[in-house]
Amino acid sequence: MLDLLHTTKTHDETRQGEAVELAPTGKADGRKLYIESYGCQMNFSDSEIVASILIDQGYETTKDYKQADVVFINTCSIRENAEQRVRNRLKEFEAVKAKNPGLVVGVLGCMAERLKSKFLEEEKLVDVVVGPDAYRDLPNLINKVEDGNKAVNVLLSREETYADISPVRLNSNGVSAFISIMRGCDNMCSFCVVPFTRGRERSRDYASIVKEAQDLYNAGYREVTLLGQNVDSYKYTPKVEEGNDPLPTVNFANLLELVAQVSPELRIRFSTSHPKDITDEVLYTMAKYENICKYIHLPVQSGNSRVLELMNRTYDRQWYMGRVDAIKRIMPDCAISTDIITGFCTETEEEHAETLSMMDYVKYDFAYMFAYSERPGTLAAKRYQDDIPEEIKKRRLTEVVNKQQIHSLERITQYVGKVHKVLIEGFSKRSDKDYCGRNDQNTMVVFPVDARFKVGDYVHVLGESCTSATLIGKIID
Ligand code: 5AD
Ligand code: SF4
Repeated sequence: MLDLLHTTKTHDETRQGEAVELAPTGKADGRKLYIESYGCQMNFSDSEIVASILIDQGYETTKDYKQADVVFINTCSIRENAEQRVRNRLKEFEAVKAKNPGLVVGVLGCMAERLKSKFLEEEKLVDVVVGPDAYRDLPNLINKVEDGNKAVNVLLSREETYADISPVRLNSNGVSAFISIMRGCDNMCSFCVVPFTRGRERSRDYASIVKEAQDLYNAGYREVTLLGQNVDSYKYTPKVEEGNDPLPTVNFANLLELVAQVSPELRIRFSTSHPKDITDEVLYTMAKYENICKYIHLPVQSGNSRVLELMNRTYDRQWYMGRVDAIKRIMPDCAISTDIITGFCTETEEEHAETLSMMDYVKYDFAYMFAYSERPGTLAAKRYQDDIPEEIKKRRLTEVVNKQQIHSLERITQYVGKVHKVLIEGFSKRSDKDYCGRNDQNTMVVFPVDARFKVGDYVHVLGESCTSATLIGKIID
């Protein structure tokens, strides 16, 4: 029996996973890997690829870093505090390395890409630095370290999608899984470090995506989330075999449809949509399939057109409102969530007020909200002064957070008294007498366990009461 677990942090939340049995197969038989992930869902998905690569070499995974031969930390650079958290965590590994000098400590992901070999100078503890496109090189890099060298590979690729690697489902509930459909980002939002850390945008072969969804379904999974920095620009043109006719290019709407057809019992979610790219075709495809969940994460960042232009978002307030109108027209029951940044360079009080009024217009179900944090190397860092004092950024953030709390409660209150189709994901965090799962709109629903139903089943739940984040109800099937 093998413990497969890593700590997951999704937007400041920490979760822990379950044990999974896996057989080591390769030459590193029995060596133990501990991997911990920070940042976006894409990073968690990448950790599953990393685990798969090393398990192929014979590694086992462990949930206890003190037992590990190799400790990896898959990092995020999106805001300064994300990087600070990683540095603090590395300090905690120091004591373990002191006791076990053979321990290999690796930094993966966005911070590795951003800081490159500088990381090795700044953090003496670190032996390996590997960027998001170089994970296939990990076995080789670990060998280098074991020969007494430090090892770095931060090459970005225009092709790598890890399409042929079957991710090991870390931290899985056996019901929901992520499928990475593309990598990188070509958008160049001025605040954002991602284009520098994850490189150019490239889409993964749709056939491998559909196969992964089918395999997951066959293994009992009932929900997949398709991941990309900008899923709406997914585009894959199959390579033509000699003598064959060319196959048509597959766009995101086509891909959604293909994955939805795997089974009506497989729920499809996706993230992240870009307001400039989300098409009516995508919205109509969502409306057409009951199993494509009615939930869109549509980051607005700011409600003011001048700030949006400085952010290089390539849409304005009117355009964004038009997209929201289209969503509500085509799918009146669709939930919408967003990301908001307060205190971007030169933002005035009036411009901030337009973000608040945008929130009133959309009434988001959920929002991730941040104070602007200047990132070295970004367009904003080069072009604009980070001139909004920290206390003003924070005050504006508090206003945004307070408003969102009211809207979240308003939206969830509307779900009380209604019946929701819920996929049972597991037991509630608070009590094993309750199940939890999400409705179509991605709201967490908690309800008493009913012995007729198990994890992975769909049930109909009547909403009876709520908090601002959870609907509480009972099964009525
Ligand atoms: N400062 C603050 N928030 C940022 N985000 C991205 N870059 C920054 C930054 N420099 C936020 C955006 C993005 C989300 C993932 O993180 O809102 O959509
Ligand atoms: Fe963080 Fe962005 Fe990298 Fe994800 S892609 S880990 S959010 S910097």
